[in-house]
Amino acid sequence: MALSISPIQIQALAATYGTPLYIYDVDTITKQYQTLTHAFADTNATFFYACKANTNINILKHILSIGANIDCSSINEAKLALKAGFKGSQILYTSNGIHFSEIEEAVSMGVHINIDSLSNLEKFGEKYGHSYPVGLRLRPNIMAGGNLKISTGHTKSKFGIPIEQIDEIIRLKNTYHIHIQGLHIHTGSEIKDVDVFIKGSSVLFDLANRFDELIYLDLGGGFKVPYKEGEEGTDMIKLGKEVTAAFNNFHQSYPKKLQVWFEPGKFLVSASGYFVTTVNVLKQNGETLIAGVNSGFNHLIRPMFYDAYHQITNISNPQGAPKNYMVTGNICETDTFATDRLLSEVREGDLLVFSNAGAYGFEMGSNYNARLLPAQVMIKSGMAHLIRKRDVFEDLLRNQIELD
Ligand SMILES: Cc1ncc(COP(=O)(O)O)c(C=O)c1O
Repeated sequence: MALSISPIQIQALAATYGTPLYIYDVDTITKQYQTLTHAFADTNATFFYACKANTNINILKHILSIGANIDCSSINEAKLALKAGFKGSQILYTSNGIHFSEIEEAVSMGVHINIDSLSNLEKFGEKYGHSYPVGLRLRPNIMAGGNLKISTGHTKSKFGIPIEQIDEIIRLKNTYHIHIQGLHIHTGSEIKDVDVFIKGSSVLFDLANRFDELIYLDLGGGFKVPYKEGEEGTDMIKLGKEVTAAFNNFHQSYPKKLQVWFEPGKFLVSASGYFVTTVNVLKQNGETLIAGVNSGFNHLIRPMFYDAYHQITNISNPQGAPKNYMVTGNICETDTFATDRLLSEVREGDLLVFSNAGAYGFEMGSNYNARLLPAQVMIKSGMAHLIRKRDVFEDLLRNQIELD
């Protein structure tokens, strides 16, 4: 897949800010958002960017500027959203396994909340009764997603209130007169199959009849993006058409028109991001030719965490004769970015660029092996801006208390 930023610009940024380096081309985020709004033009749809994918404050501000809302998975994400300028009404807090005090804080911030346990729902009812509208995060018992680690709606999943506990939900709702305004599901990530979303909607349609104050049905995020040449992502036009038809059909027998909410993370930001590394060492280990780069799973964990594929481009030697490489990081455990990967001939010092690094890249980074977190650069309308400085050695000691 072609890079949206020219190799010359990437080389210049690498020279200015050093590597490893994250670069985000935010015009791609804008295009992705337009694809969504276009696909759902005939539905009352609202998109909340799942900011767990990337919380750099400048990315959040860009998301706000293009008209999207924001979905948060921790109270600090919600605080970052407020800081970026989102209003409480534009923020959704979809929680999992949190202490009730975070829900109280979210209420004081005036954000939408999806509650995901009976225990917190009961506490919510006791404290707020009908005074604050709330949504329910449900577990729809649907197996979906690219792999088990990113499947969240199946029968063994920790997420949401299992739909078979609907009578208990209704009992709590009636006992405390809880104002339930929405029903939410998120079945997983990297879902290509449009039917999964249709199946999810029909689970929510069946339950909606038990609630009379709903304003939204939230189908979560999880749209698939292409990672490889020739790979297809979720067909948004098809999804838009089928969801619209399903909602139109549902509205024929439901007394009011509900909005459909989505929480795309990857779909909005994945393709905008590039991770630039430098080759430290080349090694011929038996049959295997290893290109060892100056980074590791501490900066981009997706390949090691869930065998994610990232396209890698050797921008320093595009005309080099293609050879097969294992691309590895410098961390002290197995640290493999790619195996059997055909790259134009790699030399020590070459820049290898990882595509689709905008989502869950820097965000999942750590200082493991006392390595420093990379800088982040944002490109907007062709202009590059440093949006996070590279860590310095002192950052490793920040918050440590050195005893005598
Ligand atoms: C509740 C919820 N919504 C949305 C998302 C975003 O998923 P994706 O980045 O695959 O769109 C996630 C991802 O974990 C999630 O847990």
